Amino acid sequence: MAYEAKDFSNILGMEGFSDTLLNNHFTLYRGYVTSTNKLLDTLSKMLTEGQTATPEFAELKRRFGWEFDGMRLHELYFENLGGQGGVDREGSLVRKLTEDFGSYEAWEKDFKSTGAMRGIGWAVLYQDSATGRLINFWINEHDVGHPAGCRPLLVMDVFEHAYMTDYGVKRPDYIEAFFKNINWQAVEKRLG
Ligand SMILES: [Fe+2]
Repeated sequence: MAYEAKDFSNILGMEGFSDTLLNNHFTLYRGYVTSTNKLLDTLSKMLTEGQTATPEFAELKRRFGWEFDGMRLHELYFENLGGQGGVDREGSLVRKLTEDFGSYEAWEKDFKSTGAMRGIGWAVLYQDSATGRLINFWINEHDVGHPAGCRPLLVMDVFEHAYMTDYGVKRPDYIEAFFKNINWQAVEKRLG
């Protein structure tokens, strides 16, 4: 079964995100879907043909996590955008964030600071499935730093392609625009 690229054109027109930036980002995302499918095919063929003890198999296997996570993280990112209005202050997400960070504001400061770190990658609010605790993580590139068995709730892309077209090197301005467009209902739904 091949993965199919999803259509996120519903988020076009968000304030603070040009169509050019978003359409380019959709194109990049589709590239990850194509590469994920291609790697699955190639690795499966190598398995059938008895080529697993080769450096080629090892390198493609390593690359697979990067392509797959690139695909999945972009889906989570686009899905948690396009919202109208702020977070529900009475909702279960804010209640949980307050429990684990002291206040919603403390969580927001930690998440934004994570996203503003030097380097390319992702800021992700994760829920630890074992304890229910909410923790912000820095994910390097697409595949390094994911906490095992945790559930991603809010995903923010901080690769330069996510903002340079509209904001140049002003990543903090992009992060503010991202926050204005979070689809909090989608985030709430991911909460376990
Ligand atoms: Fe991206």
